[in-house]
Amino acid sequence: MAGFSLKHVYEAQQFDRELLEIVFNVADDMKASLTGDRQYARELEHSIMASLFYEPSTRTRFSFESAMSRLGGKIITTENAREFSSAAKGESLYDTIRVMSGYADVIVMRHHEAGSAKKAAEASAIPVINAGDGAGQHPTKALLDMYTIKDNFSEIHGLKIAMVGDLKYGRTVRSLTYLLTKYNNIKLYFVSPSVCRMEDDIKNFLDRMDIPWTEEEELEKVLPIVDCVYMTRIQKERFQDPDDYRTAAGKYVLNLEKAHMMNSNAIIMHPLPRVNEIPREVDTDPRARYFEQAGNGLYIRMALLYLLLKN
Ligand code: CP
Repeated sequence: MAGFSLKHVYEAQQFDRELLEIVFNVADDMKASLTGDRQYARELEHSIMASLFYEPSTRTRFSFESAMSRLGGKIITTENAREFSSAAKGESLYDTIRVMSGYADVIVMRHHEAGSAKKAAEASAIPVINAGDGAGQHPTKALLDMYTIKDNFSEIHGLKIAMVGDLKYGRTVRSLTYLLTKYNNIKLYFVSPSVCRMEDDIKNFLDRMDIPWTEEEELEKVLPIVDCVYMTRIQKERFQDPDDYRTAAGKYVLNLEKAHMMNSNAIIMHPLPRVNEIPREVDTDPRARYFEQAGNGLYIRMALLYLLLKN
């Protein structure tokens, strides 16, 4: 596809508006083909995807594997690579990637260390896709989030977005923030307990880009004014201090009563998995978009595999 210049996908900053439009257009084609002529069903039949997951996953791993299967490709895979790959014997990530480069045509990797995807890309002869690196980034998730936002609003410019919960360790919100800055007149509301506020690198970036943002502790204050409420899980596994976790856990619950404070055309998103921050009673609210959001992961990941492997 002309104009798609990336070899790897390791962080959201790699995408400009032109690249975003290319990915979204191909994702639209993928979505249409799955319910229609299946024109892409054999596009990657000679390609192999290695999925190398050092951390647990449901959506990212299975949607990538489904995407590769639906494009006709093959998959080699390890879950819990910390235990079931030679990382358990002390092998470095560099060596693992060098070796995997000889067995597959693309590597989809989830790792526990921020920055590991970029390091893997530097070691790799084949495309590496970051499927989440610690508290770093989750760029393919942010792409499907933007695709979902685009689907739900006639215009992304000017939207007011609230990000709620674990913003310190939340790689999805970090990547999504970078992508939102590609659009005009965005305003961001970071709602979190003081122990897991958005990190300074993101806030400094927004300041440099002259993009307005505010920090709040009170969810009720922002619900009536935003177009999108992006809830996140407080990630117990990332907290060093159990007291900090206890302070943050359960602080934000978007139940139906609170959802009624939102605008009628605002949407509710969540990267999932959820714990208790959105009760199931909200699932039938027409503004709940988190399952549609997860579903869009298939089309976006089909598009990325196609673009990386066919270029
Ligand atoms: N949101 C997300 O990345 O989901 P998984 O951890 O299940 O892949």
